[in-house]
Amino acid sequence: MMSYIGAQKKIHNTEYIEMSEIAKIELGGKTYELPIIEGTENEKGIDISKLRGATGGYITIDPGFKNTGSTKSAITYLDGENGILRYRGYSIEELAEKASFLEVAYLIIYGELPNEEQFGAFAHSITNHTLVHEDMKQFFEAYPAKAHPMGVLSSMVCSLSTFYPESLNQDRDEEAIDLTIHRLIAKLPTLAAWSYKNSMRHPVVYPKNSLDYCENFLSMMFAMPTSEYQIDQTIVSALNKLLILHADHEQNCSTSTVRLVGSSHANLYASISAGISALWGPLHGGANQAVIEMLEQINNDGGDVDKWVAKAKDKSDPFRLMGFGHRVYKNFDPRATIIKVACDRVLDQMGIDDPLLDIAKKLEKVALEDEYFKSRNLYPNVDFYSGIIYKAIGIPTEMFTVMFSIGRLPGWIAQWKEMRANNEPIGRPRQIYTGSNERDYVSLEKR
Ligand code: CMC
Repeated sequence: MMSYIGAQKKIHNTEYIEMSEIAKIELGGKTYELPIIEGTENEKGIDISKLRGATGGYITIDPGFKNTGSTKSAITYLDGENGILRYRGYSIEELAEKASFLEVAYLIIYGELPNEEQFGAFAHSITNHTLVHEDMKQFFEAYPAKAHPMGVLSSMVCSLSTFYPESLNQDRDEEAIDLTIHRLIAKLPTLAAWSYKNSMRHPVVYPKNSLDYCENFLSMMFAMPTSEYQIDQTIVSALNKLLILHADHEQNCSTSTVRLVGSSHANLYASISAGISALWGPLHGGANQAVIEMLEQINNDGGDVDKWVAKAKDKSDPFRLMGFGHRVYKNFDPRATIIKVACDRVLDQMGIDDPLLDIAKKLEKVALEDEYFKSRNLYPNVDFYSGIIYKAIGIPTEMFTVMFSIGRLPGWIAQWKEMRANNEPIGRPRQIYTGSNERDYVSLEKR
């Protein structure tokens, strides 16, 4: 049984507030007191870090970590009940409207918006690290043309560590870590675009220092040896917004993976590569690819939205409405709201009439009025409309999750950096064992 003692006063710590309020847990007639901590936005946590030792072996069980805080973090604030998302205190709405992706990357990684001089130096460094080693081109060529670009990207990012062996041991050297950070942000778009070029067996396009981050990526994706890519500011601005919206999302599956891998003091390249693999799954970043495939399937099937909503509700049918639902958002996903508006604008400005957008809107309407979705607080998430924009700007479906990776990179980096700066212990959850009790080995011929 767990109970609480009312708060009287708060003791300030530099990172959080330790309350005089405590939780009590009763086990076998004994009472144990557990401290309560409170974050800067008043969210509360019961600190169970000493529970096992104090109670002689009790642990907590929480599959999927639905109620478990793995860390204290000063990077992103997310209030799922009220649809609030802020990076370092700045609202996602304001950043998506006014900032550039590189500015947001700097903010997330270094904690403050850069001044002009800081931004100039940062952008200059990123621009000057966009080339990848020529030897890496052979790796691309060795992959089959049908290789999924997420598999290629994850491997290539880990491979970067082999070209920069000094990065394997840079625990405390801020300058060396910064160089790795800049290299990663600079090279990820190059690796992503080259994996696409390779899938078509087209020659790669080299980065150009005269272009900004988004323009450069689009040029490496779409320029040909025979023709330059014509920069379209509608597309550049849509891409900039999408990357900002994906830049961090506190302790989600891929970010927790990056922190967990990094907690063993694995290098940043290896940790980010693991994050890319975690993002790939259709329940996480892979949902953006799955959404477009689902919308195409519904369209090809005649566009009967009610039929597919019924399938999603049917527990004997594995079909789920991709792009719907979120572990944390229970009213709406603020990123989805911004993307929906951007989607209309981009398609309008580009003069595209995509039947998938109509299906998506119908699907959203039907689902939002349906008791099944209402009672479970299932709303469109960030991935529901993003694929439609990616499709409009010419990104192939298999590259959608790669786009998410480019956006999420600053978040992964910042979370890795924070974890190391706080000297967090190696991540190592416990378990409750449910297997056989001790038994004797029986030799093969007697089994
Ligand atoms: N379609 C139909 N039913 C759903 C859906 C869906 N998309 N999502 C959740 N449910 C149901 C689920 O069956 C369960 O029902 P019941 O209570 O009757 O058993 C209930 O809603 C709660 O779902 P859950 O799976 O326990 O919730 P979760 O927090 O473990 O999972 C989720 C969250 C995002 C994995 C899940 O909603 C889902 O699979 N959505 C589709 C995939 C998707 O769009 N993922 C992208 C997430 S946003 C991008 C990112 O940051 O990763």
